[in-house]
Amino acid sequence: MDRYVTGAVIRRLRESKKLTQEELAQKIHVSDKAVSKWETGQGFPDISLLEPLASALGISVIELLSGEDIRNTNPHSNILRSKFYVCPVCGNVIRSVGEAVISCCGISLPPVVAEPADDEHGINIEVVEDEYYVTVDHPMTKEHYISFIAAVSDMGVQFVKLYPEGSAEARFKRGRVKKLYAYCNRHGMFEAKS
Ligand SMILES: [Fe+2]
Repeated sequence: MDRYVTGAVIRRLRESKKLTQEELAQKIHVSDKAVSKWETGQGFPDISLLEPLASALGISVIELLSGEDIRNTNPHSNILRSKFYVCPVCGNVIRSVGEAVISCCGISLPPVVAEPADDEHGINIEVVEDEYYVTVDHPMTKEHYISFIAAVSDMGVQFVKLYPEGSAEARFKRGRVKKLYAYCNRHGMFEAKS
C-alpha cells in the first residue's frame, strides 16, 4: 500500500460533508494549507490525525482507509450478502455484513464462497410449524463433519454450531429466511437450493 489515504478521498468526503478546507482544518487543528496539500497529493495527514480526521468527516477510520463510505445504505440486502470466514486453525467462525479484513490465528481469512449443495452435502428442509427443520446428509465423524448450519434472512443470521458425533441438524425460526448454508470441514460451504 503506497498511500494509506488519498487526497481525492479526503476531498470527496469533505465535500460530501459540505465542509470547506478551512472548516475541516479547524476541526482537526491543522492549517488549511495542510488540508489543501493533502488533497492535491503534496503530503499525507500524519497517522496520528487519522482518528480526528475520520471523526471530522463523520466516518470510521476503516472507512477512511478504504476510501469509501461503507456505511449501510441498504441494510436489508447487505445482511443477505453476509459473508462467513472460517479459521482453518481453530475453527472460529466470523461473520460480516460488508467488506472486512478478517484474520484469526495469524492468518488472513478470505470469505468462504458457498457452492450449490451437491449429492454428498444434501440440505433437506422441512417446515415444522413456524420453524425450518434442516438436516444435512453427511457424516459427523471427527475427521469429516458439518461444523455449522446458518439461516440468513433480511433480519439477521441464525447460526447453529455443530460438533462431530452430534447430528447434522438445526432448527430455525422461519421468519423471512432467504438462504440456508451448511459448512463441511473438508469440503467448504454449501447453499441449499432455493
Ligand atoms: Fe463433506
